[in-house]
Amino acid sequence: MTADQTGMASASGPLVIPPLIGPRLHLRQLTEDDVSPEYLAWLRDDEVVSHLEVRFLAQSMETLRQFVAGFKADRTRLLLGMFLNDVDKHVGNLSFSHIDWNHYIGVVGLLIGDRAQWGRGLATEALVLARELGFRHLCLHRLEAGIYANNVGSVKAFVKAGFSLECRLEQRRLHKGQFVDEVLMGCRNPDFRSP
Ligand SMILES: CC(C)(COP(=O)(O)OP(=O)(O)OC[C@H]1O[C@@H](n2cnc3c(N)ncnc32)[C@H](O)[C@@H]1OP(=O)(O)O)[C@@H](O)C(=O)NCCC(=O)NCCS
Repeated sequence: MTADQTGMASASGPLVIPPLIGPRLHLRQLTEDDVSPEYLAWLRDDEVVSHLEVRFLAQSMETLRQFVAGFKADRTRLLLGMFLNDVDKHVGNLSFSHIDWNHYIGVVGLLIGDRAQWGRGLATEALVLARELGFRHLCLHRLEAGIYANNVGSVKAFVKAGFSLECRLEQRRLHKGQFVDEVLMGCRNPDFRSP
């Protein structure tokens, strides 16, 4: 199936994606109703956001609702929540941004906001679902992500989910007072068919 066959590349209107279900978590598109004090607290937690650009923005419930609402009619980005299957708890987000329908590229980002859930393999599981979303549902050719090289857990999760480290941009990010390298992780769709 190509992107044209799904209508993704040519149609207008919002991108609508079915929930993606993994062994322990599912991803579904976020709505303003998912904005909660817990979600806001993630973005105010210095450890959670230390490798994320969102740390440079002041956040409130209102800015967060506006942020989530901004994805609605935008065919170049998607925002999905990660919800634990057993308790349907919102523990993090996964996004697709800068979706380029000329070249079939999407940029993946993720955040597990609930720190109690770190180190359990959830990022790896979410990224496997992101590949399914990007390649099977959006029919993209390539997914990529820029990651601070010292974000060891993130780099490992991307590698475990099938991404490769493609290049290193020297001292591109300022992290806790030190310039650190950024790595570009990439993954290609083996089943991509030109429209
Ligand atoms: C980085 C992050 C996504 C990792 O999520 P996670 O669910 O803990 O990752 P996983 O459990 O899938 O771990 C993948 C691997 O990395 C390792 N790992 C996880 N966190 C690590 C850390 N801080 N230091 C070293 N290794 C780490 C895990 O042990 C696992 O390796 P293993 O399979 O060899 O044991 C999560 O900590 C997070 O959301 N942090 C804040 C936001 C962020 O940095 N997002 C990424 C931006 S690109």
